[in-house]
Amino acid sequence: STQAEPMVLTSRSESGKVAILTLNRPKALNALSTPLFDQLNAELEKADADESVRAIVLTGGEKVFAAGADIKEMKDKQFAEAYKNNFLGTWAKLADIRKPIIGAVAGYALGGGCELAMMTDFIVCTPKAVFAQPEITLGIIPGGGGSQRLVTLIGKGRAMDMVLTNRKVSGVEAGQWGLASRVTEDGQSVVEEAVKVADGIAKFGVVAAQAGKEAVNAALELPLAQGLRLERRLFQALFATADQKEGMAAFAEKRKPTWTDN
Ligand code: CAA
Repeated sequence: STQAEPMVLTSRSESGKVAILTLNRPKALNALSTPLFDQLNAELEKADADESVRAIVLTGGEKVFAAGADIKEMKDKQFAEAYKNNFLGTWAKLADIRKPIIGAVAGYALGGGCELAMMTDFIVCTPKAVFAQPEITLGIIPGGGGSQRLVTLIGKGRAMDMVLTNRKVSGVEAGQWGLASRVTEDGQSVVEEAVKVADGIAKFGVVAAQAGKEAVNAALELPLAQGLRLERRLFQALFATADQKEGMAAFAEKRKPTWTDN
């Protein structure tokens, strides 16, 4: 067949509630070319719009999550072209997805691969995963959010260490530093673990899950007083939902809640 293999594969968890998006450019170690990102954005938007999807897992391969932006695609780029076409600007779409997204990282998450992982809501990785920002070895700096998101996740000193020295951070260290929220046991499937966590989220009401994500993300952008106000307003707004009434009634009646996403 002459049909090109998709660069992002999609599947569902057994429960049907979790969309699993798998980067699939193995020959280039999942280098994040513009066409790959276009496909990823399209699949993310599809999953976000699909009511049967309640959470998303984004993963790569067993040996490589993603080896970064596509160096061969960008090596001859000029400033004007990069600027006019807003090169890497389309990467920001992921941050607009409203459903929870878990990054499942095994193997290399380098440069843009590390940055892509950090764009997810949180990361589950294997102990042997390798996170690094090797851009300095190419004469550039991170361009997919790395310099900003690393500081939030692991602090300025460790972020500087990674960006300025190409320090390789293992999955174990990533867990200790807070770059990854969960680290699997050696030999355990990171995708299975991430899907299990995502299925847990999928059991809760969608409105509360989306509001929780919105509130946490606000902390990255707003001064504390505004963030606290936004959180409180969202919290108060949830008293207008059926799921709040159901959740609290179920607690009082010592039964399990049945969420209606309303
Ligand atoms: N872009 C394009 N192609 C890449 C790539 C990348 N980021 N990473 C790997 N590849 C390609 C290789 O060129 C090679 O292709 P050919 O078979 O056609 O030669 C193929 O994938 C296999 O790679 P290797 O032979 O190098 O595999 P390895 O196992 O020996 O090494 C590796 C693995 C250590 C990950 C090594 O491939 C590597 O260092 N890759 C580059 C990592 C990097 O520098 N990433 C940062 C990119 S810049 C960036 O991301 C900017 C940003 O902030 C957005």
